[in-house]
Amino acid sequence: MKKERKEARKIGVDKRFLAVTYGCQMNEHDSEILSGFLEDMGYTQTNELQEADVFIINTCAIRQKAEEKVYGRLGALKKLKKERPEMIIGICGCMVQQRKVAEKIEKRYPHVDLIFGTHNLHKFPELLQEALESRKTVLDIWPRRGGVVEDLPKLRKDGLKAWVSITYGCNNFCAYCIVPYVRGREQSRKMENIIAEVEGLAAEGYKEVTLLGQNVNSYGKDLSEKFTFARLLENLDNIEGLKRIRYMTSHPRDFTWELVEVIRNSLKVCEHFHLPLQAGSNKILEKMNRGYAREHYLELVNYIRELIPQASITTDFIVGFPGETEKDFADTLDMVEKVRFNAAFTFLYSPRKGTAAATMPEQLTEEKKKDRIYRLIESQNKISREINDKLKGEGLEVLVEGISREEPAGVVLTGRTRTNKIVNFKGKKELLGKLVQVRITEPKTWSLYGEIID
Ligand code: 5AD
Ligand code: SF4
Repeated sequence: MKKERKEARKIGVDKRFLAVTYGCQMNEHDSEILSGFLEDMGYTQTNELQEADVFIINTCAIRQKAEEKVYGRLGALKKLKKERPEMIIGICGCMVQQRKVAEKIEKRYPHVDLIFGTHNLHKFPELLQEALESRKTVLDIWPRRGGVVEDLPKLRKDGLKAWVSITYGCNNFCAYCIVPYVRGREQSRKMENIIAEVEGLAAEGYKEVTLLGQNVNSYGKDLSEKFTFARLLENLDNIEGLKRIRYMTSHPRDFTWELVEVIRNSLKVCEHFHLPLQAGSNKILEKMNRGYAREHYLELVNYIRELIPQASITTDFIVGFPGETEKDFADTLDMVEKVRFNAAFTFLYSPRKGTAAATMPEQLTEEKKKDRIYRLIESQNKISREINDKLKGEGLEVLVEGISREEPAGVVLTGRTRTNKIVNFKGKKELLGKLVQVRITEPKTWSLYGEIID
């Protein structure tokens, strides 16, 4: 794919870059693209801020805490920029796609050279060049018109697992969520481009791909009828060499029964369903604009378990959405008991300026939110542990992904099951990148310990 791009200007020879990323996998993947551009320009990657000629912070806006961390980091960079004025400091991603935030950074942190949002990643080489040549802050957060830009370079972390974008943006406008405002409307990549990218990855030796989108289930709705997420999975399932296909994130409203069947019939699509429920009360789900009721969610879970009994189901919960009463929260705890999730990511509701929920009445105190999240975590942990305990003695397929630690008695390897559970076990380093069978000997709440079956 690289060959079709314009030859990059080699302005970074003998220079180094560092990119740090906050937030989700989409952001991590965007950083791989930025790193790919920088590498094409001749820059080499470093882990040391002190020796970086270009330092990029890729930001997240999903919760207030993520933004606070970035402001702290920007403040601390002032001294470094004074010592090394030739260094370029860039900030990008969801946080600065909010115009007010970008303007605040431009004003209050003049040592930042480059501010750019999520829409114009493909323009990064030009913007960097401009920042190097001008003495003013370069700001580019304006939405771009036109389709998806293909053939961007990517500097991927390992040769084993890769992220592949399938859609950008989101049309859902869940009442709490900033994403549609900072990532724009949903746009799908053409199926042939996704297939070509995954084929290329498999040919390079990649074993696993994770398809990325804010709502992967609505893949293709902006293309034509024949392009659905189910068709995409069927096509990718045939790619030789590839062993596992994952995807995130799903929307329970758009997850069709047909899709469950396609996953059951596929060889490579993993039996892991991450289905963010967010809340257990129908009143709160409606206020959140989620578009489904708890009954629909339970039906979907039942169908998944009927067709794929070994499937793992995980979720996201937001605790303390405006107007959430103790009774509503009891409905969330009730869903935890009814569904018996393998694991749940739990978040305190964080008001985001510009979203519908931020101005809703009956905002909860932090104290109340925290009390509820502790109770939720306790309840979920108990279930996660009970589910994992049942795996004792079972043999599971594990993709060996890395080294957990090296002990005098041997190397402890780490990998994941198809159901996305982390498994640690003793084994030789040569097994890295291989699929092995591991018998579970010691289940824990968030991971499993086991031994290789010869
Ligand atoms: N406050 C708290 N959590 C949020 N999420 C999204 N927006 C907010 C917010 N304003 C959570 C949702 C989503 C996950 C990625 O982040 O649970 O699924
Ligand atoms: Fe946000 Fe809802 Fe879109 Fe997910 S589906 S990115 S929670 S608006």
